[in-house]
Amino acid sequence: MIQLHDKHFVPFLSAADLDATLQRMAKQVTEDLKGETPIFIGVLNGAFMVVSDFVKHYKGNCEVSFVKVASYEGTGSTGEVKQLIGLSQSLAGRSVVIIEDIVDTGNTIEELKRMFEGQGVKQLKIATLFFKPEAYTKNVPLDYIGFEIPNKFIVGYGLDYDGLGRNLPEIYQLKE
Ligand code: IMP
Ligand code: MG
Repeated sequence: MIQLHDKHFVPFLSAADLDATLQRMAKQVTEDLKGETPIFIGVLNGAFMVVSDFVKHYKGNCEVSFVKVASYEGTGSTGEVKQLIGLSQSLAGRSVVIIEDIVDTGNTIEELKRMFEGQGVKQLKIATLFFKPEAYTKNVPLDYIGFEIPNKFIVGYGLDYDGLGRNLPEIYQLKE
């Protein structure tokens, strides 16, 4: 068991579990995008480890870039997503894969999809290591999902609790 700030967390998924799943996802994306040179766009901060390990398993030419966003829960069901760091290159005519650590309500992914599709991409796919179906409020289809997990808070492997825990090589779940 580990402690971050005031909360305790228990082991949930090992580094080997994560790597095997990223390998499976990368293989699928490699097959689907044969003949393309995709741009993988990681969503900071959380996705930095996912992108790093995913691209090592990707077989083929690709580009890697990042955006940084922060989401704010509104008073209603719509959250506001603010772009803090954008992209410097054009996405027109490109095959783009958004890489997320976790899709929760879906606010972030819906907004990113809207922004990138507005730039005239050839195709846009969404890959996420974790998906919480019980929390998802959107209709945006997710193309590649690593793990469907219960609606419980997790940390590690890039994911934080109030800034801490991103450096953990495995995933921990909030202790009940
Ligand atoms: P969204 O609600 O799908 O827009 O997700 C917004 C962001 O909330 C994610 O990119 C994560 O940074 C964060 N988040 C959601 N669930 C968790 C969790 O279980 N642990 C840590 N961060 C989370
Ligand atoms: Mg994220």
